[in-house]
Amino acid sequence: MKTEQGIALVNRDDDGVDRAFREDVLAGLRQRQKAVPARWLYDDAGSQLFEDITELSEYYPTRAETEILQSRGNEFAELIGAGRAVVEFGSGSSVKTPLLLRAIDPAAYVPLDISGDFLRESAAALAEKFPNLAVHPVEADFMREVTLPQEVLGMKKLGFFPGSTIGNMVARTAVDLLRSMRVTLGAENGERPVLLIGMDLIKDRAVLEAAYDDARGVTAEFNLNLARRINRELGGTIPLDALQHRAVWNDAYARVEMHLEATRDFDFSVANENFAMRAGETIHTENSHKFTRRSANTLLLAGGWTPRKRWTDGEGRFSLILAEATEKRDAP
Ligand code: AVI
Repeated sequence: MKTEQGIALVNRDDDGVDRAFREDVLAGLRQRQKAVPARWLYDDAGSQLFEDITELSEYYPTRAETEILQSRGNEFAELIGAGRAVVEFGSGSSVKTPLLLRAIDPAAYVPLDISGDFLRESAAALAEKFPNLAVHPVEADFMREVTLPQEVLGMKKLGFFPGSTIGNMVARTAVDLLRSMRVTLGAENGERPVLLIGMDLIKDRAVLEAAYDDARGVTAEFNLNLARRINRELGGTIPLDALQHRAVWNDAYARVEMHLEATRDFDFSVANENFAMRAGETIHTENSHKFTRRSANTLLLAGGWTPRKRWTDGEGRFSLILAEATEKRDAP
């Protein structure tokens, strides 16, 4: 896969192995607490399983955020205004993105995604729904600064980052992303872009753990799919029947953690390197941080964004925050 600038987004060995995947998995498995970065959960099967998760009765975030987008259109229109270029960090959801676009009547829509296939599919579906909207998909890793298409450079920008995906990052990575969003959206060139960002809220432990450990076992499949992917793509020998899905609320870090837990002792290899797991030992596969109003504001401020307005759903489960790029000042 290559970007317009000719930079390979996926770097493969001669035998077709994604090098970054192999290096991340091997480095993670060598640690005392085994861990694999959550981004590797999303191969085709994983992305489909995540879509299924968003429809589960236990998984409230998607419904709660959609409710806010549906009910607050007038306020978005008033506060954000028409004629902006909407830059979405990720390919966009077929439900949430149209709700926003219909509410604010933008001049252009720029979805950014590392997966060219998903990007093209969702951009084409959107262009069909909004025939008068200029759609400019950009294949890029949005964790870094992205050069936007020439056509939107003169427009005011709105960044859109729904889903509480920011919660899947540890604070340092989240701050790095928020800072590079400032650059991508032109804040360093004297523009004052705004950002509409979804952030899930802290609530009862039982509700949080059920959202990540549903009765039908879809989230368990999503998690186990990572081990399946390691076996398939990296020649792994992980015994899948000896792993179980675990979702636990870590109160000190305000996050739901997903782990794959060994149900017995076993040895295995990945890319010809040997590893072992003891019964009860885990591979940490994802963090999903949850926020309070204050912790959300602190994170945004650390990333160079000043919160201006906050909405929650009727049950107070999820927040959508409108923030403005903070102006550089020397004094407090
Ligand atoms: C994509 N992300 C916001 C989801 C979340 O809720 O953290 C990923 C997920 N993992 C398990 N269920 C959903």
